[in-house]
Order: sequence, then structure tokens, then C-alpha cells
Amino acid sequence: MRENITVINHPLLKHKISMMRDKNTGTNEFRKLTEEVAMLMGYEALRDLPTEDVAIETPIEECMAPFIAGKKPALVPILRAGLGMVSGMLTLVPAAKVGHIGMYRDEETKVPQEYYCKLPQPIEDRLIVVLDPMTATGGSACDALAQIKKAGGTHIKYMTIIASPDGLEKVASEHPDVQIYVAQVDRCLNKDAYICPGLGDAGDRIFGTK
Ligand code: PRP
Ligand code: URA
Repeated sequence: MRENITVINHPLLKHKISMMRDKNTGTNEFRKLTEEVAMLMGYEALRDLPTEDVAIETPIEECMAPFIAGKKPALVPILRAGLGMVSGMLTLVPAAKVGHIGMYRDEETKVPQEYYCKLPQPIEDRLIVVLDPMTATGGSACDALAQIKKAGGTHIKYMTIIASPDGLEKVASEHPDVQIYVAQVDRCLNKDAYICPGLGDAGDRIFGTK
């Protein structure tokens, strides 16, 4: 496994992702599970946030206590499905900025088409956490990361719930400076470039559009 890939292994994550995979899990529950999985993954992905000691008074005495330091991190979901991970991450970092990158895969070619991009400014010196539950061919993630770098982003993490082996390798090799957090690496892609066993179309399951 490449150095910039962290597979987050936890029985709670596995259990929740198995529930997401089940085709009988409805929209409401799927959405809630996506939030919870994002929060559990975020706890690990944000482990190296810098802190600084600040003087405070407890009811007992004065002390120096650590608080998160530096510019507020930014979350950047890849639309649509990445939106499902935002609220879980905001539970951890309520003051985070939120940018958006809109992309859809062309149904025939599977090549990502960008239709929207709005990123928080200034983007330099800020941790950017890109969110997309599914990494299939890896095309959407690669293009989104390239777009963020073009806009000036330098400190970038990518959080994805399920990846195909080839998609993960593509993102990790094209963006060796981006730390990738993934909860499950699945078997392969099918002929329609869907992840197997996967969970189907994450956007449709989050928004109830199919
Ligand atoms: C899905 C998913 C990823 C992309 C992954 O989005 O949320 O963004 O496919 O595929 P890739 O790794 O092969 O690029 P989709 O294009 O279906 O758009 P949607 O979220 O709006 O449904
Ligand atoms: N996008 C999804 O939502 N699921 C897949 O399996 C592949 C792309």
C-alpha cells in the first residue's frame, strides 16, 4: 500500500458500511449512516490537527490548555454524494469553511464533467479535506484535487468511504502529496464502472433519486 493511503480499520465503521451496502437500507437510514461514517473517519483523518496552549481558568486553578490552532479547515464535498459526509464532519469541526465542487460522470464514457466550483478563500495555508464516499475509476477525485491545487491549495486530504483498488491507486499515484483516508477497498469495478460489491449509486441512495 502506498504511503499516502491510510485504511481506517474499525469494527464500528465496518458494521455501518455493511448496513449501507444492504440494498434494503432506505434513504433516511443511508443518509444517517453516511454522516456517522464520515464522523468516525474524520476523527482519524484530523488526528494531526495542530494545537496551541492557551491560558484558561478551570473551577480549580489556572492552567495552559490545548486548543486547535491555525486557519479554519475547509471541507470540500464533491457533489452530489460528498454532501452526505459534510454534516458528520461539521459535528467535529463546526467552524470549518465549506467549498463545493460539482462533478458528474458522463454515463457513456465515465469521464467526470465539472459543472461547479466554489472554494473558500484564501485557500493557501488551510487544510482542505475533500469528501466523496465513492472512488470508482478515481477520475472525479483526481480532477477535483487538481482543481483545488490549481486554485492554490497545498495541504489537502481526501476522505472516501469505499474505493476500488484501481481507483485508489490512480488517486494515490497522481496525487502523492495528498493523504488519502479510506474505510474499505472493494474487489473491482464492473463493466459500468460501478464498485463491486460497493453500495450502488451513493448520490441516488443519499438523495432518494432512484
Ligand atoms: C459518483 C461518486 C463519485 C464518482 C466516482 O458521482 O459520488 O463522485 O461517481 O466515480 P469515479 O471515481 O469513477 O469518478 P456521480 O458521478 O454518480 O455523481 P452524483 O454524485 O451527482 O450522483
Ligand atoms: N459512483 C457511485 O456512487 N457508486 C459506484 O459504485 C461508482 C460510482
